[in-house]
Amino acid sequence: MSGQVYVFDTTLRDGEQSPGVRLSLDQKLEIAFVLQELGVDIIEAGFPISSPGDFESVRRLSEELESVVVCGLTRARSKDIEVAADALGPAKRKRIHTGLGVSENHLQYKLKMSEARALEIGVEAVKLARQFTDDVEYFMEDSGRADKEYLYRVTEAVIAAGATTINVPDTTGFTSPDEYYSLIKNLLDNVPNADKAIFSCHCHNDLGMATANTLAGVMAGARQVEVTVNGIGERAGNTALEEVAVALRVRHDKFEVDTKIDTTKLLSASRLVSKLTGMVVQRNKAVVGANAYAHSSGIHQDGVLKERSTYEIIDPRLVGAEKSEIILTARSGRHGLKHRLAEMGFSFTDERFEQIYGDFLKLADTRSEVDEDDLKTLVTTG
Ligand code: KIV
Ligand code: ZN
Repeated sequence: MSGQVYVFDTTLRDGEQSPGVRLSLDQKLEIAFVLQELGVDIIEAGFPISSPGDFESVRRLSEELESVVVCGLTRARSKDIEVAADALGPAKRKRIHTGLGVSENHLQYKLKMSEARALEIGVEAVKLARQFTDDVEYFMEDSGRADKEYLYRVTEAVIAAGATTINVPDTTGFTSPDEYYSLIKNLLDNVPNADKAIFSCHCHNDLGMATANTLAGVMAGARQVEVTVNGIGERAGNTALEEVAVALRVRHDKFEVDTKIDTTKLLSASRLVSKLTGMVVQRNKAVVGANAYAHSSGIHQDGVLKERSTYEIIDPRLVGAEKSEIILTARSGRHGLKHRLAEMGFSFTDERFEQIYGDFLKLADTRSEVDEDDLKTLVTTG
């Protein structure tokens, strides 16, 4: 089993499906270039048949991008596939991503068709897509709630028809990590031609388990992850690119596989996507949140000032942050205060420092953070 995990970024497709988000063509191009620089392998540029704007975006990205595979989403319908192939025309490397629901729920309520008919349609869609490119990904929507035996049959049939990547979406964010692990593992173990395709994790975050599920899928043998920057996407979002990339890097001892992502560009990519989509990144968001490398309690500050690894498992420079921050609050101790004052160029006798520390605690009890202006006032009065 290869040690490389391919990163399929869908910020511009599933990510852009976030309620309230609309990106212009120029904004999509700006994000796409950043993703290319970041080292993603595949960019899902849009859903060409869905609107003239999406068609145009996929077309322009196909013209402009050099080193990534450009992908267009389709339903398992001839017209969708033909339109996607047209939009992807200029791409140096193109992928058609087609598929259909597989769960009983989707077959009964959404597609209103039998398992056999859905399988037939899926196979025809793959065969048609293969006429335009030899890189075809098949998504089995709502795999997380599907009957396993049916999943095996669909997977075997679409691989035989020419699908080179099998996407196993947990569309509704329903599964738990152990279940998603088994889903991928069972597909790899039970589908006779599974070795002819790459299996891909596509997880949604409805129960807050998207990243855990994706990593479980990788542990089971999946070698592609479908992610968005900052985890934006439908409802509670998709798996966050930055979380998976950093988890695989920091816990290489456990996962033993890696992506090509240049993690030092993650923070700037996160900020760009947040600015252009208007989706604010929560302060305590893993890897890229404003608090991710900030320490405010005395015990933690004392620890990291002695040795960073006491409370930090990610070196902030790994994601492009300059350094960790010592935030002064009512929970901070002498070590943290002395450190910040020294950074500002101040040093004091022990007696004077104790006075300042007493004043600092009184002030800190009245606000959430004591900033540099407050510190300057503290040391010049009293
Ligand atoms: O969540 C999902 O199932 C999807 C598919 C269209 C790939 O986004
Ligand atoms: Zn999705």
